[in-house]
Amino acid sequence: MSAHAEAVFRFAHLSDPHLSDPSGASFGQLAGKRILGYLSWRRRRRHEHRREFLDALGRDLKTLAPDHTVVTGDLTHISLPQEFVQAHDWLRSLGSGDAVTVVPGNHDAYVHIAWEKSIGLWSDYLRADRASDAMFPLLRVRGPVAFIGLNSALPSAPLFATGGIGQEQLRRLETILDSLRGSGLLRVLMLHHPPVPGAEVWRKRLVDAPELCEILGRTPVDMVLHGHRHRPVHTLIRIPGSGIPVFGIPSASAAGLHSPHASEYNTYAITPTPEGWRVEVQARTWQEHSAGYRSEQIAALQINRSDSH
Ligand SMILES: [Fe+2]
Ligand SMILES: [Fe+2]
Repeated sequence: MSAHAEAVFRFAHLSDPHLSDPSGASFGQLAGKRILGYLSWRRRRRHEHRREFLDALGRDLKTLAPDHTVVTGDLTHISLPQEFVQAHDWLRSLGSGDAVTVVPGNHDAYVHIAWEKSIGLWSDYLRADRASDAMFPLLRVRGPVAFIGLNSALPSAPLFATGGIGQEQLRRLETILDSLRGSGLLRVLMLHHPPVPGAEVWRKRLVDAPELCEILGRTPVDMVLHGHRHRPVHTLIRIPGSGIPVFGIPSASAAGLHSPHASEYNTYAITPTPEGWRVEVQARTWQEHSAGYRSEQIAALQINRSDSH
């Protein structure tokens, strides 16, 4: 029997749906950086990010019925108010705010836009368990897992797609991770940008990745999930004495025209062991010939309980 069948808890990770349609944007809405993003969408991105793939992924996800789903950002293209409404409708099709957790991406902060007209519309999906906590980092405990979400989405200059966490969020992250010591929970950190320094080109990088890794060296997590690169990533953050597994995934809506990576998402099956947990990671990849998704195991982790759990 596979670990997926025995697992006590399963969650899915998808990213970068870029699902919205900015074609109805008014002339006034396309001022500044948005015009470049709009032209890029017209010329290229609308052919690659397609609703029919995202809908197929949603149907596939429903048949697997994971206990929780995380979405690591870039739901929109150019952060128009109407795109946030479309993204909210799509989130509701995935599940309730309790069952789905979202962190935003750089396309969800393409330009400065009022919170209540943008990411604030998704509040049910990014609210921390404790109402008194600040919005980010968010902490949500589901089954044996502590999901910790960082917001790396920041407006950046034209042609840049950088992200940043900021001192205040990093400080609160360390406090949250300290508070999880002794909780016995598996800690899963989520953010949009790749957390490994040097993993992304300069103009798309997470500017404070080194500071984040320094904190994770002192107060580790058990794995990190991210998006942004639109390709599968399986790497490590080196910390004293070990490494933290890092998983990135292709875009959930990709047709695979402009990259070799069509629509994909990952599933994580968690099974308790005497030493800690076994985590089996499977990629669910779109197959053109069968017009469906196929599972492939990409990692099997044994995570032992330590002083920091
Ligand atoms: Fe993206
Ligand atoms: Fe991104």
